[in-house]
Amino acid sequence: MLCKFAGLVLLVAGFCSAALAQTQAVDAEGHQWWQHAVFYEIYPRSFMDSNNDGIGDLNGIASKLDYLKSLGVDAIWITPCYPSPQVDFGYDVSDYENIDPMYGTLADFDRMQEEAKQRGIRIIMDFVMNHSSDQHAWFIDSRSSRTSAKRDWYMWHDGKGSSEPNNWVSTFGGAAWTMDAKTGQFYYHYFYPQQPDLNWRNPAVHDAMFDVTRWWYKRGVAGFRLDAVDTLFEDPAMRDNPVLPGTDKFGDPLEENLYNTKLPEVHVVLRDLRKVADQNNAVLIGETWTKDVSELKQYYGEHSDELQMPMDFMFTTVNRLSPPEFRRQIAAVDSAGGWPVFVISNHDIVRSAVRYGDGQNNQAIAKLMGSLYLTLRGTPIMYYGEEIGMENNDPTRKEDVKDPIGRVGWPMEKGRDGERTPMQWDDSPNAGFTRGTPWLPVPLSYKNVNVASEMKDPASTLNLYRGLLALRHENHALLDGDYVALNQSDPNVLSYLRRYKNEAVLVVLNMSSQPQEVSFDLTPQGFPAKNANTLLTTMKTATGSLSHLSLEPFAVYIGSISK
Ligand code: NOJ
Ligand code: CA
Repeated sequence: MLCKFAGLVLLVAGFCSAALAQTQAVDAEGHQWWQHAVFYEIYPRSFMDSNNDGIGDLNGIASKLDYLKSLGVDAIWITPCYPSPQVDFGYDVSDYENIDPMYGTLADFDRMQEEAKQRGIRIIMDFVMNHSSDQHAWFIDSRSSRTSAKRDWYMWHDGKGSSEPNNWVSTFGGAAWTMDAKTGQFYYHYFYPQQPDLNWRNPAVHDAMFDVTRWWYKRGVAGFRLDAVDTLFEDPAMRDNPVLPGTDKFGDPLEENLYNTKLPEVHVVLRDLRKVADQNNAVLIGETWTKDVSELKQYYGEHSDELQMPMDFMFTTVNRLSPPEFRRQIAAVDSAGGWPVFVISNHDIVRSAVRYGDGQNNQAIAKLMGSLYLTLRGTPIMYYGEEIGMENNDPTRKEDVKDPIGRVGWPMEKGRDGERTPMQWDDSPNAGFTRGTPWLPVPLSYKNVNVASEMKDPASTLNLYRGLLALRHENHALLDGDYVALNQSDPNVLSYLRRYKNEAVLVVLNMSSQPQEVSFDLTPQGFPAKNANTLLTTMKTATGSLSHLSLEPFAVYIGSISK
């Protein structure tokens, strides 16, 4: 863009770079940086502990940037590392513009970000928008009196007599209302009582939270993962939710969250946040739990002006290795019109190696799942440790549970400790994560399942992931090609093409424990080839013959095809 008014060059430089930022594309087809990037989620408590207090930290992350670079990661999303009483392990923020001392300092953050930048890795922060900690200065002021300056920054209501204002229940157990004796009113919290909901109808809250994003953009971050966006607004009339038959895992009545989630007002906020993000060449990733594709579509925005990357959690609801179910989900998301965002594990979901594992072939299945979502059209968000096939280490006794929902809901709900255990770096004590006592225990399997050992084994899950990421960075068909489902009636083998101009990549995944033989006629897709050129496979040998492709149990075959 040509900036006119040469005499005003200094004044307008900022404007020009902001305006330019939103149109920066990485190729002639207009793809944005985040469409070609691989994202990697880091749970900072559990990644790497640099000072041996048993808790991971920012200097620990900085010390592993070379590893992330060599893995092929382009952006890291760090779950909340802000000051916090840690009731919900950081998702209860008491200061949005600082770093919790247990993780380091702002200077450590800047250093880590600078080192990441040198390696071409961007930093994405977690934006906990729906609620703050009850220890945030805003809430401390808000609860101090009915007339305090920030009273209306949160959701205060009179009860019905001594009962809650309505029947809304917290997703973390119990009523979503807590009586505050000092001022005699209830405050609302969709999550724990220590996480009071902010009142997004108050323009002062809106402005203060938008300023938080600007503050981090100025510091250099490349975007935000927006926490719990569904829950930002509530029905102003505070109507009771419809009650459904049965109880949840905390023993509370089941409800349809009609009046306290997914209100249309959230889209206005997302559009505004997007404008600020665009001015900073930044990306917004959404924690978007949607029941179907029409709901997911809404998060992209009617004019693609809301979230660039709403996560597709419907993909994680396929809970067995079922080609027909995966086909259905992939096709649905692929037709949603936006750029798909695939996730198979995170800090709230049981690790995929266990979810899909059969107990005997978990590493083969970890390779299969990685090969699936890292070859689909869209942007993947990995979860730390997934690349080595890390498994859950669930607590077996209530007294060991750290995650409060696991204590309240035991034994039905064991909490999320199992998927948050320390990264397994090597086979030394505590898997090389700390020389202190790790905040969560490392499973015994770390002796084999760890970065150092897997690095040496060409057939490891880690080396398969490295190969996949290298491939998806250089292969046009994997980066930008269409998704074309193949052999759609096969119940055991999931196959598809990624097709881009004269090139295509064939992906074949045997989701069964039996050998399978498959054949392909790709003439209708414009590729009358007889053979594929093998790019990556978990099998010792593969001919690439399209008329007879033999697959070992849980095998992965990826080959290129030319016209
Ligand atoms: C979603 C986060 O992923 C989860 O870990 C957290 O407990 C809730 N939001 C509340 O912030
Ligand atoms: Ca530490």
